[in-house]
Order: sequence, then structure tokens, then C-alpha cells
Amino acid sequence: MSLRPGVITGVGSYVPDRVLTNADLEKIVETSDEWIVSHTGIRERRIASDDQASSDLGAQAALAAIEDAGLAPEDIDYIICPTVTPDQLFPCTANTIQAAIGVPNAAGAFDLLSGCTGFIYGLQVAQQFVAGGAMGAVLVVAAEKLTSITNWTDRSTCVLFGDGAGAAIVQPTEGDAGNCLLSFVLESYGEYGYLLDVPGGGSRRPLTQESLAANENCLRMNGPELYKIAVRGVPEVAEKAITRAGLTNADIDWVIMHQANMRIIEAGARRLDIPEDRLVVNIDRLGNTSGASIAIALDEAYRDGRIQTGNNVLLVGFGAGFSLGAAVLRWGK
Ligand code: ACO
Repeated sequence: MSLRPGVITGVGSYVPDRVLTNADLEKIVETSDEWIVSHTGIRERRIASDDQASSDLGAQAALAAIEDAGLAPEDIDYIICPTVTPDQLFPCTANTIQAAIGVPNAAGAFDLLSGCTGFIYGLQVAQQFVAGGAMGAVLVVAAEKLTSITNWTDRSTCVLFGDGAGAAIVQPTEGDAGNCLLSFVLESYGEYGYLLDVPGGGSRRPLTQESLAANENCLRMNGPELYKIAVRGVPEVAEKAITRAGLTNADIDWVIMHQANMRIIEAGARRLDIPEDRLVVNIDRLGNTSGASIAIALDEAYRDGRIQTGNNVLLVGFGAGFSLGAAVLRWGK
């Protein structure tokens, strides 16, 4: 059987209504709007309510993507949920989303834990699933409630994160196979894993009264070290994906980088010699939504008419692992 490339046929996203501004954070920790904007580019972020888990955000994004693809939940063959904030350690958040949105029990469903690179990993797995022709439609739904693992006493991290979900439907291409997922490059630097993690709650350090008191259930990050690694790694992995797609940097119409820091996004664009007006940015409004950030930005840029059929779109992710990934796709919708 010949391999068929995959194409994104639908996108969707969901962010909670509640807005947390930098001024609100000034009341929680010793920080300022000026520091947050100048160091990160973030002005506000969305916060899920206490009764909303990642699957609730993901279900909304998934339904929007399914509708955008002109499909119904019964048409979905597989669900992949990239997340670092699953509803629980298990079962998978993907299983919960499957039941919530009415995807048939015959569909496979699993979570994918690859930090802020998770959506790119998810797209690559989906592409492999559809390539052989066995799957008709794979839902990749990245869903994150970062505020559930935020240490609200740590000003170096609590100002960065927000909640949200983004989804895409990957199907085999029909007809013009040129408009499709063109290339992927994924890299793992496990030696840097300690720079960004949640230390407690796993098999190495199960939660105890003492570890909870030490906030080991929360995210901790060495920002300055990760900054250096990201600024170096982002353009390198992007160049590899562009070359693998048979393109040059000048062919890229839109760049969607993980929304962790505006300075990393701008430095990456400069190193790639790609004009800033080709950057898709929402970090100012949404902060860092981890694995969901690229998916949300893709949905926004498609829905407001920036991304057009035939455009070459570069996605670049980086985050916990340390993981790096890039994908190039030619927009086929
Ligand atoms: N408000 C005010 N001051 C602050 C704050 C704050 N919120 N946070 C830190 N500071 C202070 C520090 O205490 C320090 O003060 P000092 O000089 O007196 O010691 C000073 O500001 C500078 O702190 P740095 O940590 O060096 O600040 P930096 O410019 O590096 O910015 C940041 C920090 C925004 C975290 C940056 O390092 C960064 O974005 N790193 C990359 C993060 C990343 O890419 N992570 C991977 C993806 S995210 C994911 O996977 C979930």
C-alpha cells in the first residue's frame, strides 16, 4: 500500500473566560507589569475555573475542530492528547475527552507527555497513523491547565502560564497531495530534564505531607538556562525541518513558535532571517499554555484569515524534556 501524506482538515481552540492581568499578579507576588512585559511580552492570561479540568478545555477545542473539518464525533478513529496537566495521573485525559464528546468506543485514545513540544509530536504520530490509509481521521487535542501546577508563591514562574486547549484533525490527503504535512524534526535532550519539571507525584518522589509542603507538586523551572538552550535550539531545529521539506526560509509564510517568551520568538525569527510580520503571536493575551500554545495560535491565524490555502507554515516547539521539535506544513484547507 502506498503511503499517503496527512493534511490538517480542521482546527479549533478554547480558552477560559477568566482573565488574569499583570496588575492582578502584582497583588499576589512582588512583581510589576513593566517587568513581566519587558521580560516575557505577556500582558494577561486566561485561567480555568476550579471545576474545569484539562479535558473540559480539550473537549471544547476538539468539538470546534471536528466541526471545522465537516465531520461528526462518530467519524474520529483516534484521539491523541498532548498534555503535561492531565485530569489525573490516569486514566488518560484522551479517554475522558472521547467519552465527553461522543467519539465511539472503537477509537483508540492516549495521552502524549512531551511538554510544550507535545502538539508537534501529536501531529507526527497522527501523520503516521493516517499515512498507511488505515485511519480516516485522527484528533490531536492539546489541553492544558497550567494553573493547576503553578506555585503561586514563585514569582519567577507564576507570571508565565495560562490555561487553554487547541485541536487539529489530521486526515489522509485526497487529490492534491502537495498541500499536506511536509516534514517533521523531533529532538530529545534528556540531560536537561532537571531544568523544567514537576518533581513530585511520580514513582521517584511520591507525594507526602512534606513534599506537598515543599510545593513538589508544582512546576519549577530554571528560566535563564532554558532561555539559552531555546534561543540556540529553536533556529537549528527549524532550519532542519525547512530543509527536510525541500524549502528555504524565504518560502515560509507563517511561523508559529511555542509561546514561552516574546524575546525567544523574536530572536528565533532574527536568526532564521524571517520578517517579524510573519510571526503568529498570542503570548501577550494568553501567556504560556504549554503544549496547547501552538495549536491555539494555528487556529487563531486560520480563523482570522491570515493562513491561506497553499501557505507554508513552520511550527516550532520547545520545552520540558528538554524537547525540541519543528514541523513544516502546506496549508490544505
Ligand atoms: N517580577 C519581578 N522580578 C522578577 C520576576 C518577576 N516575576 N521573576 C524574576 N525576577 C527577578 C529575578 O529575581 C532576578 O532578580 P536579581 O537580578 O535581583 O536576582 C531578575 O528578575 C532577573 O531574573 P531572571 O530569571 O534572570 O530573568 P530572565 O530575564 O531570564 O527572565 C524568564 C525569566 C522570563 C523565565 C526567562 O528566563 C525565560 O523565558 N526563560 C525560558 C523559559 C522557557 O523557554 N521554558 C521552556 C518552555 S516552557 C514549558 O515547557 C512549560
